[in-house]
Amino acid sequence: MANLLLIESSPRAASVSSAVAREYVTKWQQQHPQGTVVTRNVALNPVPHLTEAWVTAAFTPEENRAPEQRQLLALSDTLIAELYAADTIVIAVPMHNFGISAHLKTWIDQIVRVGRTFTYTANGSQGLLDENKKVIVVTARGGAYPADSPASAFDQQEPYLRTVFRFIGLKNVQFIHTENQSRGPEAAEKGFKTGVEAVLAFA
Ligand SMILES: Cc1cc2nc3c(=O)[nH]c(=O)nc-3n(C[C@H](O)[C@H](O)[C@H](O)COP(=O)(O)O)c2cc1C
Repeated sequence: MANLLLIESSPRAASVSSAVAREYVTKWQQQHPQGTVVTRNVALNPVPHLTEAWVTAAFTPEENRAPEQRQLLALSDTLIAELYAADTIVIAVPMHNFGISAHLKTWIDQIVRVGRTFTYTANGSQGLLDENKKVIVVTARGGAYPADSPASAFDQQEPYLRTVFRFIGLKNVQFIHTENQSRGPEAAEKGFKTGVEAVLAFA
């Protein structure tokens, strides 16, 4: 059965990134009436930061883990299981200080895990997630960072997310940027419409 995972990561109730991402999810649900949608808002329900004990547990072979180490990794196990179960992954992310929200970063730190989502080989690292999973990243930004402009150098969202998703095997990644959200109501509305049109084109 079709399964979509929606990760929302803005602390704002009126989040633009979430609103655009939900437009995609609504269309997807129409196309997949029997499909399942799992929503995780990592800003409303933050994922904890990594600790030394967590790192030690993650690098301890599974069969040697103490019960308390398994417990420490339980949330990470759940988040990773959600990724494996999904054939479509939608990530809504606000631009905060040129990068992703800290909320999304703590989620990433819990799902990039040796032996589970990547492994080491003689030739370096290898992602373990199915490269055919469809990943849609919807960003919302106050300004605009067109790829062919000098401003693109300030975009620390797309290059970072492309790198980290590729690292865990996800290569089918589309970005939709909802821009100009802090440049007055008209520019914001135009940016929003452009974002919605772009995201619906991928559904
Ligand atoms: C803490 C904070 C930092 C921000 N930093 C940037 C930034 O570096 N560049 C930018 O273009 N917009 C920035 N903005 C504007 C947001 O990207 C914009 O409001 C966007 O709509 C946020 O997404 P959201 O609506 O999903 O929360 C920032 C907003 C906040 C609250």
